[in-house]
Amino acid sequence: MTDPYDLLLRGGTFVNHDGRTQRDIGIQAGRIAALGDLSGVTAVEVIDARGLHILPGVIDTQVHFREPGLEHKEDLETGSRAAVMGGVTAVFEMPNTKPLTTSAEALADKVARARRMFCDFAFYVGGTRENIGNMPALERLEGSAGIKVFMGSSTGDLLVDDELSLDRIVARIWRRAAFHAEDEARLRERMGLRRPGDPGSHLVWRDEQVALIATRRLVRLAETHGKRVHVLHVSTAEEMAFLAGHKDWASVEVTPHHLTLAAPECYERLGTYAQMNPPVRDERHRDALWAALRAGVVDVLGSDHAPHTREEKDHPYPDSHSGMTGVQTLVPIMLDHVNAGRLTLERFVDLTSHGPRRLFGIRGKGQIAVGYDADLTVVDLKRRQTISNAWIKSRCGWSPYDGITVQGWPVGTIVRGRRVMWEGEITGPAHGEPIRFLEAG
Ligand code: DOR
Repeated sequence: MTDPYDLLLRGGTFVNHDGRTQRDIGIQAGRIAALGDLSGVTAVEVIDARGLHILPGVIDTQVHFREPGLEHKEDLETGSRAAVMGGVTAVFEMPNTKPLTTSAEALADKVARARRMFCDFAFYVGGTRENIGNMPALERLEGSAGIKVFMGSSTGDLLVDDELSLDRIVARIWRRAAFHAEDEARLRERMGLRRPGDPGSHLVWRDEQVALIATRRLVRLAETHGKRVHVLHVSTAEEMAFLAGHKDWASVEVTPHHLTLAAPECYERLGTYAQMNPPVRDERHRDALWAALRAGVVDVLGSDHAPHTREEKDHPYPDSHSGMTGVQTLVPIMLDHVNAGRLTLERFVDLTSHGPRRLFGIRGKGQIAVGYDADLTVVDLKRRQTISNAWIKSRCGWSPYDGITVQGWPVGTIVRGRRVMWEGEITGPAHGEPIRFLEAG
């Protein structure tokens, strides 16, 4: 007799929209085939999940994996190794590569390269003045996560800051589009506030108003055109207060970095290694991000994994590059916050699985249900472990959390029914596939 299931997880506590329950999960042909008491049922492979929590696969909706063109920092394979080592089963990757991902050809090239990835993937297409005419076609292509626009300069050459072009982009988008909301004009005016050698002045330069002006402008355009926008890495109390009143148009992302680190301590301790755009700010802002997360204003967590080599980070400020690794530490850092009582495990699942599915219309992922892809993040909530640079799989080999001990650890990563990571070892095949969306194709 053949086994009914390819893989069976027995005795784990799984966390879903309907709460926490102890049920077995039967997986067949990459999908969840049964949930419930499956004692007595056989399978090709059985995992004893007693004592572990099983979450719907964590979807990280903001990573930079740097391929093509910047592979000295990261590539799609190394980035995906970092993802699955940290319990992440799918990523949305950013377009500021070389060449930029701004055309159907560049997107198709990334999708072809991405077959080497250990997790599933989608790629944002950079919105530019030149490709406005190709929207919404660019949003519908296989592997497209939709449009991403930089309203303020960051790493790379993508920038759209003039009113006419922004207005035309928002008018033409069809799916929810993602925005880096920092105001370019104010950034240029304030360049002189950067103090050489002092990364702590990064947040003086890129202040609250830089972020708030751009976010207000974006939401006004979205409201005018009746479109949905996604505000990436929201970092200020002022933006959260404003966004709370505009949820019909704008969805909200926060990063674990902005929830965990705070100025001035992080700049004193980590120097340029804490430098990112928008900057990590002081405790007033960090507290406001947590309050917004608890109040339901925040929709998703994105790591904004933005690897740079140590050499690039070691340049004296302001020549040091902006960005920190994060895809591998998203789960352990946030589980530590769960254990500290700052959010519930259910809210974590909402932010990393249900939220991405709801906002972006992801097909077949984002919850544990029969018929869905068997993407699972298996965690040990009790385990205490120290994050170390040696554990980091990103090519750049460092984390701002090196030496930090957390409670709560990703034990296993299952992508469409196959174990790709278990107990700190990459075990699985690199069988990444494009994420499918309701509004694409
Ligand atoms: O700090 C950042 N680094 N912010 C961004 O918006 C881009 C990112 C990168 O690509 O390095």
